[in-house]
This record gives sequence, C-alpha cells and structure tokens, in this order.
Amino acid sequence: MNGKVTVFGAGNVGGAVTRRLIERKVCKKVVLVDRMPDKAAGIALDILEASPVDLLEPVCLSGEDLEQTRDSDIVIITAGATRKEGMSRDDLLRVNADIVRECVSSAAKYSPYAFYIVVSNPLNVMCHVAMRAGQIPRTRITGMAGILDASRFQYFLSKELGVSVENIQAMVLGEHGEDMVPVPRYSTVAGIPVTELLPRERLDALIARTRDGGAEIIRLMRTSAFYAPASAVIQMVAAVVMDKKKILPCAAYLTGEYGLRDVFVGMPVKLGANGVEDVLELELTDEEGQALLGSAQKIKAQLALLGEAC
Ligand code: 2OP
Repeated sequence: MNGKVTVFGAGNVGGAVTRRLIERKVCKKVVLVDRMPDKAAGIALDILEASPVDLLEPVCLSGEDLEQTRDSDIVIITAGATRKEGMSRDDLLRVNADIVRECVSSAAKYSPYAFYIVVSNPLNVMCHVAMRAGQIPRTRITGMAGILDASRFQYFLSKELGVSVENIQAMVLGEHGEDMVPVPRYSTVAGIPVTELLPRERLDALIARTRDGGAEIIRLMRTSAFYAPASAVIQMVAAVVMDKKKILPCAAYLTGEYGLRDVFVGMPVKLGANGVEDVLELELTDEEGQALLGSAQKIKAQLALLGEAC
C-alpha cells in the first residue's frame, strides 16, 4: 500500500472525510476530486492552510488532473446530490447513479486495485452501481451506512441509560434507510444485551429515532449530516490500511448469505488489508429475519427502478 486515498466529492461529507483522514494520520496522501475543481481546490487549500497550526503534514491535493489519483489504495465515493427536507434517499436514485457511475469509471482507470468505500445515497443501490461501473470484485467494495446508523443508536442508548458511549456496541443490518434493521439482541452495554436493560417500548422509541436519524439532522440544519458519516468512513479506512480485521456493520454484496444474493445489504463485515475479508451470518429470530428480507426486497425494488442503468 502506498498510503494514497482519493475522495470523490468535495461536498460537506467529502470535505469532512478529507480533513479527518489527515487528522487521524491514516494515510500518507489524500486527493480530493470534484466536478467543480475549484471547489475541491478551495477545500484542499483551506485544510492545508490549517496544517501549520494543527502541526499536520500537508498531505492534501485537489485532483483536477485524475493522474494525481493514480494507484490509490482506497477510493471513497461521496459525490452526489444530498437530500433536502421532505425528500427520501430514493429520490436521489437516478441522478446519483449517473454521478457514481461517472466517478467509479474514472477512478477504476487510474486505480484498478483500489478498495472502494461508497457513501452516496441511496447507499445500498449506489454500491451496486459502483461495483458494476468499475467491475469491482465483491471483496474490494463496501458501503458506509451501518456504522453511522449503529453510532446513532449507540448515542441514543447512552443518553437513555446515562452510560458512557464507550460501553455501548450496537448492530444495525439491512438498508441504510427507513427499512434498516437495528438488532437490540446484538446491541450491548458492557456486554449486557440492551434487551435486559430497557423495556421494549423504550427500545422501539430509540430504534424509531435511529431510523429517522438522517432526516432529523436535515430538519434541523437543512442539509444532510456530515460529521458522523465522516467519522464512520474513517473507521472503515483505518480497518483496511491498518489491517485491523475489524468487524463492523457495512453494506456488503451478498452471494447467498441469509438466503440473499446479488444485493448490497448492511451486515457485520470483517474489514482488513484484503478488504471485505468475511461477511458474518448472525442467528436471527423470525421477526429479525423477516425485517432483513423486507429490507433487501426494498433495495432490489430500487435496483429494478434503475434497470439496465444499474
Ligand atoms: C445520513 O443518514 C447522509 O445518509 C446519511 O445522515
């Protein structure tokens, strides 16, 4: 690995990811690419101008010339329209499919062996579009979603229980959207399942808030979240570049797991130097299994809307 990471999309998420990559020192160089090269150049320059104060090595470039992205270890796709209030992630389907396809087709020419992290929404479908556009093997592509949803669930649990976020682990499967499947049975506080610590109605209320997490942020600040998504992306990058073999909830391409195939669904995934090194199949109750199936069917319906454009 040469330590180069390319970020497509100089929006709020792309800018936050670029900044966090440098702060966390998880790579040697970051190249920020956008359809509006001046926007990427401005964000890159703003970050670089902070380096003397932050005492961070100036490692950020904006890539008007895609040659600068050549041989990236990791390519992060954040490009695309973001939701406005009242929009669903599905409303972004066609416009973002074209944008993601363009980004990945370009990236793959210069970095044919990169590991791809997709962030653009609707996430599970955009992973599919990216995999097709770049002819990317399933081990070298995943989607950032479950970590973000689980982090929101963990935060809500920590506030409800008055417990440090450091004690809390949460599992969220399925779609990054209203049909996501938070799994309280596999969510713990200091190893104790939350189902033993909170009544069902409180858990259901926190799950409902988690499902609505993205929309809640949009209602408050009139644009999509970017700090929490960026932190989730950095956790994935670190797992790959440091070969952590860390199990994280991410969107993975299924080839029969849970009886599902040819669809990207949020799962416990082992991330390491070889990318998606394993997809873990959890024992699910009938209720959980049905919810996961429904989530996968929602994603497949979105794929059908795209048809050959996928
Ligand atoms: C979210 O859930 C932007 O989809 C992202 O905030």
